[in-house]
Amino acid sequence: MQVRATVHRDFTISKIDDRLYAAFIEHMGRAIYSGIYEPGHAQADKHGFRRDVASLVRDLKIPAIRYPGGNFVSAYRWEDGIGPKEERPVRLDLAWRSRETNQVGINEFASWANELGIDMMLAVNLGSRGIEEARNFMEYVNHPSGTYWSDLRRSHGAEKPYGVKMWCLGNEMDGPWQIGAKPAREYGRLADETAKALRALTPDAELIVCGSSNDEMPTYPEWERVVLEECYEHVDHISLHKYFGNSSRDTLNFFGKIEETGRYINAIGGVIDFVKAKKRAKNDVHICFDEWNVWYHRREEDSRNWRTWDWPEAPELLEETYTFEDTLFIGGLLNEFIRRSDRVKIACIAQLVNVIAPIRADKGGKAWRQSIYWPYQMASLYGRGTALRVAVDGPKYDCAVASDVDYLDVAAVQGDGTVTLFIINRHLDQVLDLSLSLHGFDATLEEHKVIEGHDLMATNGPEAEPIAPVNGSGLGIEGHVLRGKLGPLSYHVVRLRV
Ligand code: AHR
Repeated sequence: MQVRATVHRDFTISKIDDRLYAAFIEHMGRAIYSGIYEPGHAQADKHGFRRDVASLVRDLKIPAIRYPGGNFVSAYRWEDGIGPKEERPVRLDLAWRSRETNQVGINEFASWANELGIDMMLAVNLGSRGIEEARNFMEYVNHPSGTYWSDLRRSHGAEKPYGVKMWCLGNEMDGPWQIGAKPAREYGRLADETAKALRALTPDAELIVCGSSNDEMPTYPEWERVVLEECYEHVDHISLHKYFGNSSRDTLNFFGKIEETGRYINAIGGVIDFVKAKKRAKNDVHICFDEWNVWYHRREEDSRNWRTWDWPEAPELLEETYTFEDTLFIGGLLNEFIRRSDRVKIACIAQLVNVIAPIRADKGGKAWRQSIYWPYQMASLYGRGTALRVAVDGPKYDCAVASDVDYLDVAAVQGDGTVTLFIINRHLDQVLDLSLSLHGFDATLEEHKVIEGHDLMATNGPEAEPIAPVNGSGLGIEGHVLRGKLGPLSYHVVRLRV
């Protein structure tokens, strides 16, 4: 099958915000405890953080990380996680019916993130708590000294303020499962007033207000309109969350859900524009897609377990094992974020370790890379710069969730003297014969990595990681055209020097 694509140097979409490749980690399951933190593990550093896990995290070059939740944050008392560890209270985590020991709190997490060069994006509890606790938390984190909370932080060994800029105003406040869920108008008012308090403390804070928990919520997208009408001028981003699955075992339809995500971004973009116009506002609000991933492999089983279990400490929860099909899906979703980088400025893979995560860490054992680690890493390493438009002219398909879906999925990013193409052949059994014209570029092929040839249900594990990029072949530059054959169900990263 022939497919033509065209890229032009002057046809740009947007400068990509590096935070498009951010991550999320929550106090739940084994994400923190026996995930990133496991004192006593052979690889633990003097603070109890696992070096093997940190090394896999470092290789992802993550720009920012959202913490500490998620649903967890909506009944969390951040003060429980500061001061001498032996004096910290053990609490019941209402979100996941678990026991929270508070051995990791803001200072431990900050030193872990700082060591890895990752900026923190902190969420405040607007479920069971409100403005007072949020401003205290920010004062503890960001104020230099001379006040109760800042001096308390200094007494805990953190002399310098952390200077955290990104703050989430609660989590999924529309969700009936959320502790302290609220109607849109009420939440919008609270978010607006919380924003006022937080901005008084950190004037250049970037504030993220909660959008719907997903695009299937009954109140979506009315929720976004009402919330933004209350707080538009005082926030910088609105959050989107979406998790994906392929329970019906229909691969092409699964891939079609990426188009659905494009429609979700369009719809919220429309709501943002509507409210901006209605309010005659001057500022822009962007999209912060702060939870996204595949989540279905053991969702039902998990949900049966945690709703009835007896408040365990760091239980196995949401430990999805990802497949090669998920590699292709995640590669495509990241391509969509690149194409929508005009609207989406921050996106967080949910989550980072053990819980629906690209990295798994066995308790007392090995840390290993799941199949989805690779497209995330490739995008984070090479997807920085300016997103270029790509016109595709080739075979298409229809599926339940979308029509006219291209079998060829391409995103293009111009960096410093480079153009990187992220290319996926989504066809189940056909080779695509590609000719991709590069207008305005004199290009040479620098590197071609490919992931292909696996069974769709193949997985990585602690013993072996067969799903990983290898050097590709069969693609070459002829004049200003990249030509070559793309095998069925293959993911490619093509790096050009220009
Ligand atoms: O990431 C798991 C959960 O999914 C988060 O806690 C919540 O925000 C979402 O519903």
